Amino acid sequence: MDLFDVYARTDVGIVKGIGSHIWDERGQKYLDLFGGHAVISIGHTHPHYVKRLTSQLNNLGFYSNSVKIPVQQQLAEKIGHISGKTDYSLFLCNSGAEANENALKLASFANGRKKIISFKNAFHGRTSLTVAATDNPNIIAPVNETDNVIFLPHNDIDALQNTFAQHGREISSVIVEGIQGVGGIRVSDLHFLATIRWLCNKYGAYFIADSIQCGYGRSGLFFAHDYARVNADIYTIAKGMGNGFPIGGLLISPKLKPEQGMLGTTFGGNPLACAAALAVIEIMEQDKLIDNAAMVGNYLLQELKEIKTIQEVRGKGLMIGIELPPEFSNTRTNLIHKHYIFTGEAKPNIIRLLPALNISFKEADVFLKALKTELK
Ligand SMILES: Cc1ncc(COP(=O)(O)O)c(C=O)c1O
Repeated sequence: MDLFDVYARTDVGIVKGIGSHIWDERGQKYLDLFGGHAVISIGHTHPHYVKRLTSQLNNLGFYSNSVKIPVQQQLAEKIGHISGKTDYSLFLCNSGAEANENALKLASFANGRKKIISFKNAFHGRTSLTVAATDNPNIIAPVNETDNVIFLPHNDIDALQNTFAQHGREISSVIVEGIQGVGGIRVSDLHFLATIRWLCNKYGAYFIADSIQCGYGRSGLFFAHDYARVNADIYTIAKGMGNGFPIGGLLISPKLKPEQGMLGTTFGGNPLACAAALAVIEIMEQDKLIDNAAMVGNYLLQELKEIKTIQEVRGKGLMIGIELPPEFSNTRTNLIHKHYIFTGEAKPNIIRLLPALNISFKEADVFLKALKTELK
């Protein structure tokens, strides 16, 4: 049987990983500044992570939400503490799209409204509602098409205010990434985020902070939206949360009240996934990885801004976009095949850095040296 061929894959077979390094089938070592799309937060095969998962597996691999699962409560407490959102509650699921889908549904259940505001270049997932709120017509199937999503220009406060003035009482939620990832590392302005908060309060809509890629410490704060000093009503998390073990979640403000049966999942919050997520937070706290993301991230941003060939450097912490002129379109490929460094990309010609949060200054320097060689 062949694989259903939907991915534009790099022709390298990865079989092993330790920390910020991965190895291919031939034993070639690579520096990993991509982490499989921002997923590797504490490094590959971290010993504490492997130990915690193994020990959980030896006790209990799975049970569903038909019973109490004590590790879920432990995880909720840890996430409340590390995020500072101690009065929010946690709903666990399996992926980023599922987290956003549930967030959009929850908002709609709560205010009984249908319209969603999303933004140009946004990516929120591939389930029916999240894909409809994603700014990419190529991945929206006819069955996903809906009039319920209003797309506005990102960071355009006037457009936001005008739309609320016209449709305010129909709007259920506004969904926004603190830093757009797939859209090319575009930071949401702090005043823009604060205006979303203000308008949602005024019109009874819910503010959903999609933190799937920019959250979980990557930006140098637990949530990139926290830079705006306002709280969202729902934060969605996934990617870095499980360091590769599929898990996602919603942090839900006390404003939103649960009702039995309104959300649900078979696999979400299973003991193994919770053990993985607990191991991640334990290492994040112990090794102060959010601070490291801020420090190494600032260093990378400063150094990159010195490189004249680069058109623009964007981002915060360890979520960095490097926009290159069209003649340097092979840079990412050359970094892989000539310098053995994995990075991500975004269209049209943007290199995306999404390394583990414990990347060292030395590893950052290896990348800077290789990039300077390529951009000479
Ligand atoms: C901002 C954002 N939201 C949602 C998703 C969807 O997450 P998943 O692929 O886990 O469904 C992604 C994935 O890249 C993302 O970057």
